[in-house]
Amino acid sequence: MINGASIAASALSPAFEVFPVTVVAIDDDAESLELYRDVLRGEGLRVLTATSPEDGMGLVTRERPQIVLLDLIMPGVGGMDLLERILAFEPRTDVILITGHYSTESAVEAIRKGASDYLTKPISVGSLRERLGRFADEARRRQLGHRLGAELLKASRFEEMVGASPVMVDVFDRIRRVAPHFRSALITGATGTGKELVARALHRLSPAGTGNFVVCNASAVVETLFESELFGHVKGAFTGATQDKEGLVEHAHGGTLFLDEVGDMPLTTQAKLLRTLQSQEVQRVGAVTPRKVDLRVIAATNRGLAEMIAQRQFREDLFYRLSMVQIKVPSLAARKEDLPLLTRHFVERFAAEFRKPIRGLTPRAEIVLARYPWPGNIRQLENVLASACMLADGELVDAADLPEELTGGQGNIDGEDTITDETMLPLAEVERRHALRVLRLVGGNRSHAARILGIHRATLHRLLDSATFSTGSGPEPARRDGPV
Ligand SMILES: Nc1ncnc2c1ncn2[C@@H]1O[C@H](COP(=O)(O)OP(=O)(O)OP(=O)(O)O)[C@@H](O)[C@H]1O
Ligand SMILES: [Mg+2]
Repeated sequence: MINGASIAASALSPAFEVFPVTVVAIDDDAESLELYRDVLRGEGLRVLTATSPEDGMGLVTRERPQIVLLDLIMPGVGGMDLLERILAFEPRTDVILITGHYSTESAVEAIRKGASDYLTKPISVGSLRERLGRFADEARRRQLGHRLGAELLKASRFEEMVGASPVMVDVFDRIRRVAPHFRSALITGATGTGKELVARALHRLSPAGTGNFVVCNASAVVETLFESELFGHVKGAFTGATQDKEGLVEHAHGGTLFLDEVGDMPLTTQAKLLRTLQSQEVQRVGAVTPRKVDLRVIAATNRGLAEMIAQRQFREDLFYRLSMVQIKVPSLAARKEDLPLLTRHFVERFAAEFRKPIRGLTPRAEIVLARYPWPGNIRQLENVLASACMLADGELVDAADLPEELTGGQGNIDGEDTITDETMLPLAEVERRHALRVLRLVGGNRSHAARILGIHRATLHRLLDSATFSTGSGPEPARRDGPV
């Protein structure tokens, strides 16, 4: 039997309407179900009930509830099996097991399998309200966090870039102010920091934004062909010049020429480029007369040009010409606060690209990313997340999906502490689990366990029997892996 859903409309705060929380209760005892329904609807929760495991699982897959109340002992599929199936379907569901009598064995197993709480019948209205209220608040908080995260990401986009850190907000601001006026600009920054994206943004926001954006990668051009590549040539200018050819400078006429890795440009070409910039004229190799051009030039480098100037490898006059406007793109290490946003941005992109239902990272994976120094900057982060999304099995990328260079082979970067599920638990939950483990070891003898733990027997009672396996005061238990 499946009862239809309805929300008790009385006294609902806006949060209830914006973030409805659904509870599915599965119990073969109709009377218990009635109790859950009455109590929880009074709390503003949407309650759906099922009297069989099959109907219950059907409701879970259809309705995607945030909370499931699950009777441990039912005919047919047992509660433990159903618990596993529910968590396999949606690992973030709070499943609360209900049992006729307290048993350490089943409590331990329930935790191990990922249950969020464990209630013993007879259940008082007060404790049901209190426990479920806490989980419902947590579910609303998660939904709110998710929504804020999505809005933040949207608000943190600038052209093709993502960033909300003060250093990146400065970069965006500089681009916005400079773009309408610049004729030449120099972008500096380490490898993979986004220099090309900055150049593209400058171009797009400039008055020539609809013109060509022509890329010349100085490190990829053979030295002897450089001038012909950049300035073009006329037929017969040199052996092999069988016809007239337009160079990149002319191709960028009415738009922008992007000189990537400008530090690799030969000195003779540098001199000719400077002349072109000053006169806005280009002379094809072998040509007698120059042609007028109108273009913006953006150069980028990850090399120290000042040092190259000192060693006479780069022309000082060209440097001054280019760097009238200079934009320094910070390393990822200097904007670590952007890491969650960038991660979310890339995960969304690769999930769509690979057609996978990936929604975020496990807390363990997030920690691994946060602890890594990112020498290859955003490009390295992008590559790491691309491969992780390819490997990820479920809806969350785990530390195991990340490359070994980040995890040290086992989610362990500095060799000091290994990250396990327990690392992400609130202290109260760790205490409870430890107490349960000791209790199990001594065959359930509470006096004996209390002696080993060095606490009073009454304290052990409280630890085990009070808010059993609740989420404690910490943020979230380990397996409740929030979205990025
Ligand atoms: N702020 C950002 N938001 C989103 N993606 C970014 C950002 N910065 C860089 N990327 C991505 O990271 C990669 C590297 O960026 P880009 O090629 O612009 O860096 P670069 O500084 O030119 O690197 P290199 O020095 O290696 O040439 C690109 O795929 C780019 O799309
Ligand atoms: Mg580049």
